[in-house]
Amino acid sequence: MARVVVFDETGGPEVLRVVEEPVGDPGPGEVRVRIEAFAVNRLDELTRSGAAPMPIRLPHARLGCEGTGIVDAVGSGVDGLGVGDAVLVTAVPDMTSNGTYADYTVLPAARVVKRPAGLDPVKAAALWVAYSTAYGALVEKAGMRPGDHVLITAASGTVGLAAIQIARRIGAVPIAVTRRTAKKDALFAAGASAVIATDQEDIVEAALRHTGGVGADIILDSVMGPGLAELARAARQITGTLVTVGWLDPRPAPYPSQAITIHRYMSFEHTLDPESVRRIAAFLFAGLRAGALDPAVDKVFALDEIAEAHRYLQRGQRAHGKIIGTGAAVA
Ligand SMILES: NC(=O)c1ccc[n+]([C@@H]2O[C@H](COP(=O)([O-])OP(=O)(O)OC[C@H]3O[C@@H](n4cnc5c(N)ncnc54)[C@H](OP(=O)(O)O)[C@@H]3O)[C@@H](O)[C@H]2O)c1
Repeated sequence: MARVVVFDETGGPEVLRVVEEPVGDPGPGEVRVRIEAFAVNRLDELTRSGAAPMPIRLPHARLGCEGTGIVDAVGSGVDGLGVGDAVLVTAVPDMTSNGTYADYTVLPAARVVKRPAGLDPVKAAALWVAYSTAYGALVEKAGMRPGDHVLITAASGTVGLAAIQIARRIGAVPIAVTRRTAKKDALFAAGASAVIATDQEDIVEAALRHTGGVGADIILDSVMGPGLAELARAARQITGTLVTVGWLDPRPAPYPSQAITIHRYMSFEHTLDPESVRRIAAFLFAGLRAGALDPAVDKVFALDEIAEAHRYLQRGQRAHGKIIGTGAAVA
């Protein structure tokens, strides 16, 4: 028997409960992972509350789209992975049936990659979703190049912090956006070349000032909402690209009228494709080895404290980085 977080109805954090269940066996092409640590993501919150766009299989839905652990059983036909391998989960498109908030989960072998040696499980759990999203949106989708000015909204969020580090690693110039002046110093410390605090500055005016009057080559937006049209004015006209990755502001977002390229990015576009995963992993693991990428962890909860972890996410009081839960193999 092992612990699994489930919910029978959508709602607040209180719908999450921990139950004990038999551990499932991997089928052909699958592996069973003993989860050491998992991250709490915004998508989990949307799924739990019923606001996510994908169907939820109730009752007894599982949760969790990110995690790391040790392969402890391998199904037939799996090559290149064995019992005892430390792995990172790279995509859980059907998290209500095999989510990572658990002591164990069974996944297709194609949904994990070997974890770099020496990366501790808590940091590893904070890596994949934020960094693969920022990398996919900036590099694969928007074609970020050295020297590009990259404007990053919600820069103190997990995707934003990853985007700052990835922009730096490529040689681009990350310009961070926050709603609060009080966060400026932390964003400079996180690697931003410039910081725009929208409680004191006009975002378009400041973006033009930081880009020699031409606007950002790329805007990475995690917020959307009514501010989207104004934000697009901060992009370099004609050649600029706006990539939206998130929806932290759930209000309707007006479609920008600027002559720029606009992409709506979902990381599954790359994380369900083995060749893209290979490229993403190669970039991220080299960045970790070089010390250029360093996932921030804000707070660690035990699996049994999962409802409290969701309340903590909802309160929005995080200083910096990911909320991590720990599973079977971490005390
Ligand atoms: N497309 C994909 O595949 C993909 C993958 C991962 C995440 N996402 C989405 O990307 C978005 C960002 O994720 P994340 O993990 O970086 O989020 P997060 O860590 O929770 O980001 C929180 C930060 O966002 C900023 N923010 C700006 N406007 C906000 C608003 N209206 N409400 C709340 N916070 C706001 C706040 O910073 P300041 O106070 O400094 O402004 C806050 O510290 C989410 O919508 C998430 O679902 C999408």
